Amino acid sequence: MLTEMFREAKHTVVLTGAGMSTESGLPDFRSAIDGMWNDVDPLQFASRDAMQFERDLFVRFYKQRIQKLKGARPHSGYYHLAEWERTGDIGCILTQNVDGFHQQAGSRNVAEMHGTLCDIYCDECGEKASSDGYLTDEITCACGGFKRPGVVLFGEPLPLNAIHQAKMETKKADLFIVLGSSLQVSPANVFPMEAKRNGAKLVIVNQEATEYDSYADLVINDKIGKVLDDLVKSNTH
Ligand code: APR
Repeated sequence: MLTEMFREAKHTVVLTGAGMSTESGLPDFRSAIDGMWNDVDPLQFASRDAMQFERDLFVRFYKQRIQKLKGARPHSGYYHLAEWERTGDIGCILTQNVDGFHQQAGSRNVAEMHGTLCDIYCDECGEKASSDGYLTDEITCACGGFKRPGVVLFGEPLPLNAIHQAKMETKKADLFIVLGSSLQVSPANVFPMEAKRNGAKLVIVNQEATEYDSYADLVINDKIGKVLDDLVKSNTH
């Protein structure tokens, strides 16, 4: 079923969430078992208020996430997606993830809707640096400003260019595949239904049910790594 859809599609767009990176060892946010937000309130750590009023907690939280990121690598599924972009089977990847794994694996046409944890920048002058700086506690800019992670914090607007790219790509899609997202956060969760409304086929690959499953043409409740490995095998015959 997925193989046929994938083969017949003219413009496939993939939306990835944190479930795309759990098989690389990075926890997601809302998985029933070990989602990150199960035992911490995101607003206490990942919000603009936290950055302003709980600075030490904020830096510790992101230092831990950057540390974990540096020790992890994209799994085979990322390389399959990059190869399919090269062969023209995938048009674009819209990602909610901030780990930079799609680009590390070779994908080029990636819209990072929630920013990236690979960079930090000064909240005053905007000077950018690698997030390695957090591992050596370089959090103050030469201008005296605070160096913050390049992620979109709760309460902040999303990057306009990434959202514009997501809208344009979703308009063109005749196949829209969600990989590893609970689809609980907007505006990212708007794009699957936008694609559906435009006449695209919608596929949701997620270990747990989502509230959009009933609108999907195909739901696969299985591990992404296995689903993508199987698609490679069936797509090469
Ligand atoms: N294979 C398939 N699905 C998986 C796998 C896997 N290996 N691992 C986890 N999942 C599924 C989980 O069942 C879960 O429903 O991935 C989904 C991840 O959902 P969330 O943890 O809510 O992550 P996401 O949808 O990306 O969250 C969106 O919320 O906190 C914000 O900014 C953060 O970008 C994030 C946004």
